[in-house]
Amino acid sequence: MDEVLVPGLPPVIAIDGPSASGKGTVAARVAAELGFQYLDSGALYRAAAVASLQRGIAPDDEPALVELVSGLALRFEGERIFMNGIDVSDAIRTEEAGVRSSQVASVPGVRAALLALQRSLRIAPGLVADGRDMGTVVFPDALFKVFLTASAAVRAARRHKQLIEKGLSANLEGLLRDLEARDERDRTRAVAPLAAAPGAQVIDSDHLGVAEVVDQVLEGYRHAV
Ligand code: DC
Repeated sequence: MDEVLVPGLPPVIAIDGPSASGKGTVAARVAAELGFQYLDSGALYRAAAVASLQRGIAPDDEPALVELVSGLALRFEGERIFMNGIDVSDAIRTEEAGVRSSQVASVPGVRAALLALQRSLRIAPGLVADGRDMGTVVFPDALFKVFLTASAAVRAARRHKQLIEKGLSANLEGLLRDLEARDERDRTRAVAPLAAAPGAQVIDSDHLGVAEVVDQVLEGYRHAV
């Protein structure tokens, strides 16, 4: 409540949840609505994953991964992400990058190496950040925290639809299996496991459209301010 009044510490809306729960779409729209910055923290882990695949670094080689991630120049421009000056926004969205990102995200040194960059994006008039640990680790003092979820079946069906619409081939059962495996890894890892932050508003979007979720987040935020 008083938090927005602290000089130099703009408000944060933290939106966490499992893969394909719609966090990214919702967070970007909420940010646009409020004129806030938007941080897609998953994009950073995905970029790290792509870089590790390019260099042939194993997903459990912590020293090599930390060196790699520490040396990456990662920068957002609107919703696009650049790695060492190259636009990797599309390259990070493949299923291969998704699976690898969940592996590198469980490496503590990788998470530590990405912390300062995430916090540096907290600039006025505010930030909407989405990921797995926005409300628990990166911005524990966020003004408003949301845990956005949906059943694995609904999330797999949404992702399937997205891929088909993009003209890509997709297999619903395979997507469901991948999502469940990734959820399990994100939930059970030792560092920053996926969990609702204390005090987070839990929104189950199984029966809600994007606009309804956006409205609920905006309403919750306005109450919190
Ligand atoms: O949200 P996403 O699917 O783009 O995230 C890709 C992977 O990165 C996901 O498997 C978990 C990981 N991740 C994380 O550990 N912490 C975050 N704050 C965001 C993503």
